[in-house]
Amino acid sequence: MITKPTIDRIMEAIDIVEVVGEFVQLKKRGANYVGLSPFSNERTPSFTVSPAKGIFKDFSSGKGGSAVTFLMELEKFTYPEALKWLANKYSIEVEETVESTENKEEENHRESLMIVTSYAAKFFHESLLETDEGKSIGLSYFKERGFSNDTIKKFELGYSPDQWEAFTGRALQEGYQQEFLEESGLSVKRDNGTLYDRYRGRVMFPIHGFTGRVIAFGGRTLKSDKNVPKYVNSPESEIYHKSNVLYGLFFAKKAIRDEDNCYLVEGYADVLSVHQAGIENVVASSGTSLTVEQIRLIGRFTKNITILYDGDAAGIKASLRGLDMILEEGLNVKVVLFPDGHDPDSYVRSVGTNAFKTYIDQKRKDFILYKTDILLKEAGTDPIKRADVIREVVESIAKIPDSIKASVFIKDCSHLLQIDERALLSELNKMRMAKAKKDSQQQISRPVAVDDTLLEEPQSKEIKEDASQEREIIRLLLLYGNKMIDWDGIANTYIGPFMVAELGDVEFEHPPSKKLIEIYSKELENGLLPEEQFFIHYPDKDIVDLSITLIATKYTLSENWYEMHKILVPDEQVNMKATILGAIFHLKKHKVGKILDNLRGELQKVESEADTEILLTQYMQMKKVEKSISDYLGSVIIK
Ligand code: CTP
Ligand code: MN
Repeated sequence: MITKPTIDRIMEAIDIVEVVGEFVQLKKRGANYVGLSPFSNERTPSFTVSPAKGIFKDFSSGKGGSAVTFLMELEKFTYPEALKWLANKYSIEVEETVESTENKEEENHRESLMIVTSYAAKFFHESLLETDEGKSIGLSYFKERGFSNDTIKKFELGYSPDQWEAFTGRALQEGYQQEFLEESGLSVKRDNGTLYDRYRGRVMFPIHGFTGRVIAFGGRTLKSDKNVPKYVNSPESEIYHKSNVLYGLFFAKKAIRDEDNCYLVEGYADVLSVHQAGIENVVASSGTSLTVEQIRLIGRFTKNITILYDGDAAGIKASLRGLDMILEEGLNVKVVLFPDGHDPDSYVRSVGTNAFKTYIDQKRKDFILYKTDILLKEAGTDPIKRADVIREVVESIAKIPDSIKASVFIKDCSHLLQIDERALLSELNKMRMAKAKKDSQQQISRPVAVDDTLLEEPQSKEIKEDASQEREIIRLLLLYGNKMIDWDGIANTYIGPFMVAELGDVEFEHPPSKKLIEIYSKELENGLLPEEQFFIHYPDKDIVDLSITLIATKYTLSENWYEMHKILVPDEQVNMKATILGAIFHLKKHKVGKILDNLRGELQKVESEADTEILLTQYMQMKKVEKSISDYLGSVIIK
């Protein structure tokens, strides 16, 4: 257990913009920051961070909360994991109540696995730097490949001794559990139940997860024996899902954001060499072909990917299709091809940093033009093959969600393909139409993202309107409840208690709003004036979600409402009286309207004259109430 003083220190240190900024590219907008939601695949930013309140709100997925909740949602961290991550970020020493070896069992599964992998990383790193075998074999290999001490340290490169149980034996001795050694793939079980090392006599590349903790390894052999696999990689585990991981991303994140571009290479060595050359925005997909998850991971930081290929023609051809996937995700793809026989690693080492950078800048080519080039060369003069090329190229262009961008490519390609631009455009439109049709069919089976706080009940326009008026009251309570009223007739009164008293005769109907106003009233009865932070940290998810949604939504109802009444108020705070009283009486009027509707319905049904009489009296009374509210609304507003 992490101690209370540690938690307090962490909470004090948190800057939510910094924390969220590690995962989402944020832009300042007024007092807030906005960015693309990391929880959904949106194209217009609806993800908002309020530094003043220490909260985020994602309008596309409905998620919201503090920096800690953010890490828990995004990284799937447990509460202690999130705290530890923050402690690490802000260099706060974590005090924990003592844990013995047996207690390790009680730690949750993922945490246990990561404890083992980080122990292993340390073991391999020390073997590399401090043992004779490691130095003479592993370290000298890395040095020969040109990796500096800084690079070796930063990426925690290592060496696994060429023995059967060097690592496993030590780990067991130190109390690490067999279960986790096996599950992380570091150890392998023999038929007799004992364990041996998966990695023996290999140089080790630890793979860092998104938060910088080691989650897996790639081990490269130093033997040239064809029968020995060149790389041995960690198996999939609860902490390592290959398709969600990019090698080097943890060290590249910041540079990717700053440069607004991500270089994509193939291997570990390429990442290390390019990074070492000062180009830090580089990651590798590590042998597997690029996945949608990996593209989205990059897409959180930048919309620009530049692929650095080695010059092997067969490989390039094979990868062309995979790149369409990047276009489909709305990212821009450029390609740089290296001279035959060179990969980024060998090329940067042979020409040096500056020439490497110049080369990239000069040879960088847009993927679609590059694809067109390659396919055209291959097709030669064969007219049937050329027709295929046209179709394939337009297919790629059709994947681009931005139609303006697509039409620019059509223009460029019409030159390359020597074909009329209009012909290409009509081909493009055909494909887009087919795609739109397919998408809309999928939409039916896929639930559309809606603000889920509005989804408490089946949706009729009436109910929605009703719910939003109640929410408007809650919003005002949260934002201004602890401010003083200062208008003619009333002063030195807090807005919160004033509103609650005014609404005494109104029954709230929509669950979270109803619950929140009840809590609010209860607090008032206890002599307390609850503030927004009280609700943001309230131990009930519905209350937290509602509060954050409302605090983060500005002028939901009132803006329309001002509009409806043709009143020009630039800011609701300028005319607090109209804002507060307007909302209260607007809700009251609405409730009265509903009662009137009911009465009308009943009047049509009743048969006896006596009942009609009673209902009519009620109806007339309510009509009067409605009129007085309308008059009152008018007078308040006109002020
Ligand atoms: N890879 C793998 N298993 C293999 C071969 C390759 O997992 N048997 C992955 C590794 O992540 C490797 C990447 O594919 O980094 C690229 O492969 P390759 O170019 O063969 O490896 P390099 O890392 O470039 O190795 P080196 O330059 O040392 O030969
Ligand atoms: Mn290589």
